Formats: sequence, structure tokens, C-alpha cells
Amino acid sequence: MKKERELLRVGVLGAGLIAQAAHLEACKKARNVELYALCDAAPDLLGKVATIFEPRKTFRDYDALLADKDVDAIVIAIADQFHVPMAARALEAGKHVLIEKPMGINVGECEWLRDIARAHAGIHVQVGTMRRFDPGIAFAHEFIRDEIGELLALKAWYCDSIYRYQETDNLHPLIHSSSQATRPSGNPKADKFPYYLLGHGSHLVDTARFLCGEILAVRAEYKEKFGAHSWFVSMEFANGAHGHLDLTLPVRMEWHEGFQVYGENGSVVGKSTNPWYFKASEVECFSMRDGQYHRLLGADGHTFRRQMEGFADVILDGASATGAGVDDGVAALRALSAISHSAKTGERVALSDAPGNV
Ligand SMILES: NC(=O)c1ccc[n+]([C@@H]2O[C@H](COP(=O)([O-])OP(=O)(O)OC[C@H]3O[C@@H](n4cnc5c(N)ncnc54)[C@H](O)[C@@H]3O)[C@@H](O)[C@H]2O)c1
Repeated sequence: MKKERELLRVGVLGAGLIAQAAHLEACKKARNVELYALCDAAPDLLGKVATIFEPRKTFRDYDALLADKDVDAIVIAIADQFHVPMAARALEAGKHVLIEKPMGINVGECEWLRDIARAHAGIHVQVGTMRRFDPGIAFAHEFIRDEIGELLALKAWYCDSIYRYQETDNLHPLIHSSSQATRPSGNPKADKFPYYLLGHGSHLVDTARFLCGEILAVRAEYKEKFGAHSWFVSMEFANGAHGHLDLTLPVRMEWHEGFQVYGENGSVVGKSTNPWYFKASEVECFSMRDGQYHRLLGADGHTFRRQMEGFADVILDGASATGAGVDDGVAALRALSAISHSAKTGERVALSDAPGNV
């Protein structure tokens, strides 16, 4: 891989699925990153994964990783329940942090982390909603910002397929695991209501905010049938637009994700594929300025590598951040908490009044 002269030395915390399928390869391929270290408490997993990706150093102890002065930045690639405390420790150690999505599991802990981040100005914190680095979605974002004028409405949907695991098993490299891995107590995946909202809803809400801006309030309805879960969410945006989100999973069809945005001077229609195909979303932006549809090829759809490069660009070159920041992470949790509360009570919930839990 062609590398630039100055490289961000990254330590990845967690050698589990997302590290093996995304972040370690992203670090190896990113033009401006060195995969410097890998840390996992499970020695067997650490050994196997390090053999494949060859970081310069390995650690079983997170404190030892943080104490290494040559580590510039940490990727938090561990279970959601551990994101906030481990990211806070990275910040206290003076390391830049890329935190897997969702930033945390409730609003309170995310705000606590945001306050720590604010007290460490100059340290970059980014949340791993990597769809922002999909060239098609980035193209839609820029078109909406620069050309579409006032916004009227957004519809966005995220429907994971019942065949997801068949598909991702085929697409992922062979994933190693360990009985010695550090996991949260209980089984956070058992209750699908919070698990799907946090795991999948975090992507949908972030894409909606990336395209259409701040969400003020939501009203949500929820149905569960034959093991499928469906949230329909009406949304009010701060810019006066209204929106509709559809989070339904698993759907009895292929992966189904996309969006439509209607504005004063144009419209945008986008269709995304399962992210593990590394394919840019197909996005068409119609502009009344020239009466034409505009479409990006987006040949480079490796959102995880692009995310890593964008993260390093901010730190090494002072580039403006395009990824989700700590405030976006808090806003996403507020939206998810409001959706959860509204789905249970039937009430309209302002994000400012979201109770905190999902
Ligand atoms: N961006 C995406 O589309 C996407 C997709 C899948 C998963 N994720 C996110 O990735 C995160 C990780 O998921 P996963 O499935 O890879 O988890 P995992 O449980 O498979 O792996 C986590 C690893 O981290 C290690 N670990 C945890 N705490 C540690 C500590 N304090 N010190 C050392 N090692 C520690 C564990 O031993 C384990 O091996 C989750 O937040 C998940 O939501 C994101």
C-alpha cells in the first residue's frame, strides 16, 4: 500500500469481529496510518490476529497500550457497554480516539464523555458511523448543503436482511474468536429492542442528521411480529423539514437501505448496499439549476479505510472533520432514546427531554 511520509500511529483496542473485518485492514491500507499496536485481553485471539495483521506491538493490558508514548490514537473496537469508559481513559492519556458506534449506551455517559473531550481541546474524537465516508452519501450531503436550498422532507430506511449472516460470512475474512474475550455481563443482544436501536438505529439516525441536520423531536411506533422488529418514526428537524425513518429488521428480502430528500431546488435519491461489499451508495441528485441528474461513480467505497484516513487527516494536517464528532454521538443517543421512549408511550418526544436510556 502506498503510504505518506507522516503516519498516524494507531493502537486498536479489541481484536474481535469489527477489528478483524474492518479496522485492522483499514489501518494497513490507509495512506496516512500505521497499524502500530493491537490490544486484546484474550491472549489466543491476540496472537492469531496479530499474526495476520502484524502490528508493531501487542498488548493484553489497555493501560500498557495507553502508556506507550509512540501511540498517537486509539480505535475503540470493543462492546458498546465499554466504549465510554475506555474512550475516557484514552483521552486522559492524551490519545486521539475513534470510537465505534454507538458512542455509548445512554445519553448521560455520552454527555460525560463529551465534557471530558471538551476539557481536552486539541484531541480529536470521532464516532465510527462510517457511512459518512461512503462517497455517495458524502456527495448527497454536499449537494444538499450547496444546491438544494430549503429542505422540505427526508425519508430514510435501514432494513437489515434475514440473510445478513449468510452474506457477511461470505464477505468477511474468516473471523477468529476466543472464550477468553472480555464481554459485558449478561447478553446485551438478548433484548432486541435496545440492541437493534443502538446497533443499527445509530447508523440510520446519523445518516438522517448528516443529510438533513439537527432533529428536534420524534414520534415513533413499534411493531414486533415473527421475530422481526419495526420502528416507524416521524421527525421534526430544526430547519423546519419533516422526516420519516423506517428501521425494520430483519426484512425477508435483501439488505434494504436508502434515503430520499426533497428540497426547494432539487431532490436526492440514494440506495445503499450491505456495507461489507465496500460499494458506494448509488445516489442521484436532481438540480433545477441545470435540469439534470448528477451521479457520482464513487469507485472507492471502502468506508472503513476512508474513515481512518479522514480521522488521520484531521490530526496530522488539521483538515476539517467530516466524520461524526462527539456532539454528533450525543445527538444520536438523544434521538435513539427519544425514539425508544416515544415507541413505548406513544408520545411525541423532544430530544431535549429524552430520558437517556434506549
Ligand atoms: N461500524 C459498523 O458497521 C459495525 C459493525 C459491527 C460492529 N460494530 C461495533 O464494533 C464494536 C465491537 O464489536 P465486535 O463484534 O468486534 O466485539 P467483540 O466482542 O467481537 O470483540 C471485542 C474484543 O475486545 C476485547 N476487549 C474488550 N474490552 C477489552 C479491554 N478492556 N482490554 C482488552 N481487550 C478488551 C475482547 O476481549 C474482544 O476480543 C461494537 O461497538 C459494535 O457495535 C460496528
